[in-house]
Amino acid sequence: MHIVFLNPQGNFDPHDSYWSQHPDFGGQLVYVKEVAVALAQAGHEVDIVTRRIEDADWPEFASPVDHYEGVRGLRIVRVPCGPPHFLRKEDLWPYLGTEWVPGIRAFYKHEGRKPDVLTTHYADGGLCGAILRQQWGLPFTFTGHSLGAQKMDKLHASAENLAALDAEYHFSQRIMAERVAMNHADRVIVSTQQERVEQYGHRLYAGAIDPTDERRFTVVPPGVNLRIFAETAVNAQEEATQAHVKRMFKRDLFPERQHLPAIVSSSRLDAKKNHLALVQAFAGNKRLQEHANLVIVVRGMEDPLRDHGAASASERAILDEIVAVINAHELWGKLSAFSLNSQLELAAAYRALSRQRSVFCLTALYEPFGLAPLEAIAAGLPGVVTRNGGPSESLVDATTGQEFGVLVDPANPADIARGLLRVVADASAWQAFHDAGIQRVLAMYTWQRTAAAYAGVLQEILAGFVPVHPYFTEPALLALTPADLATLYGEGA
Ligand code: F6P
Repeated sequence: MHIVFLNPQGNFDPHDSYWSQHPDFGGQLVYVKEVAVALAQAGHEVDIVTRRIEDADWPEFASPVDHYEGVRGLRIVRVPCGPPHFLRKEDLWPYLGTEWVPGIRAFYKHEGRKPDVLTTHYADGGLCGAILRQQWGLPFTFTGHSLGAQKMDKLHASAENLAALDAEYHFSQRIMAERVAMNHADRVIVSTQQERVEQYGHRLYAGAIDPTDERRFTVVPPGVNLRIFAETAVNAQEEATQAHVKRMFKRDLFPERQHLPAIVSSSRLDAKKNHLALVQAFAGNKRLQEHANLVIVVRGMEDPLRDHGAASASERAILDEIVAVINAHELWGKLSAFSLNSQLELAAAYRALSRQRSVFCLTALYEPFGLAPLEAIAAGLPGVVTRNGGPSESLVDATTGQEFGVLVDPANPADIARGLLRVVADASAWQAFHDAGIQRVLAMYTWQRTAAAYAGVLQEILAGFVPVHPYFTEPALLALTPADLATLYGEGA
């Protein structure tokens, strides 16, 4: 198949420039690149179509066509969209239908051919997929990655602040684009069943899609990058990271405790990641303290519990709460907190700590998919993870009930401690979870598997493609004005 990925925002280049340094260069780019590479390696012809940028500050994205070294059959195709300089994704809306889509058609017309099928990403890609479906008669899939309705909820949108939020984030355009994309898509791709029900079931999408209509959705989980997160991998940061972890343990832990297993937490300092409950679990359980140290990894902060200098106000508030628990329970010497600054360092640290029979713990109040625990598991750390969200599907087999990690209630520190003790206090349980977890990742969560699932869906929709969309519902509110958005959002508020 000749498959085209529509991904206007961010950009792609052979060096993965700006990844995780700019909000438009986050997990979505990793996802699209990995799936595209795996599809190309499986023999498909693949183009990632993105935006051409001619801007001295963003020199990587100027050429119309680019390639990843060593990957055959995959092109990065850059099509102009609005002014030549870099634009954040929120500012692309006026140019997508008027410039980017015609530019894509012109590019392929010039080549004298049309691709077979489109796979579109985020609201902006999805909207263009719907337009191209109408104009070109090509089927498309839509992968939302992050939906505007949930972002509005996270930002506590209300009648008072909606106009200001809309001016900053252009939610009316985004929600409209999402409604059109999900309504017209030949298939919506989600990472979990919960994403289908909870995210697409938001009242802002009412009438555009029925989240209970399983014909419209396919669950395709993303994959772990096994080149980085594998127990047997070795990278350029391996030895330096091991030495760094040793130094941090020497700095923070009592000498007689430095060999103990570590309970490793590595996530953003964000209230919803719920670090506090993990610290309370550790503080409240002496037996757990006898068996393990708590290790909190915070990117960019060398000594976060003692030096808040690099922290934002909200991060500082979280650190203050943690330090208060540490002081109240006299935990100094039993926990260490430091920075690991890249995926390579993180993977190297996981491997080193796995040799001390350590575990990975994530007590987020809700975790939509939960790739981070799967990465840790693949690198050798059994997972003790929130039961709310994707981990409940990835770490327990829905049919047999077999566990590949331990699920815990993030609102209940006693339950978190119980879950941790199951693994750190029992060497044979640690080994069993370690082995089962790695097998689970290899069997279910690799990019090759993600790509094979995409290929399956694309082939299926191509085989049954009818230009008149079978499920198109013509809802009244596909073209959403700011006033419609306020009404729709307000109804459930
Ligand atoms: O990279 C992951 C991702 O979810 C992207 O899809 C998107 O660019 C960003 O993070 C989140 O976008 P938003 O905050 O607009 O929902």
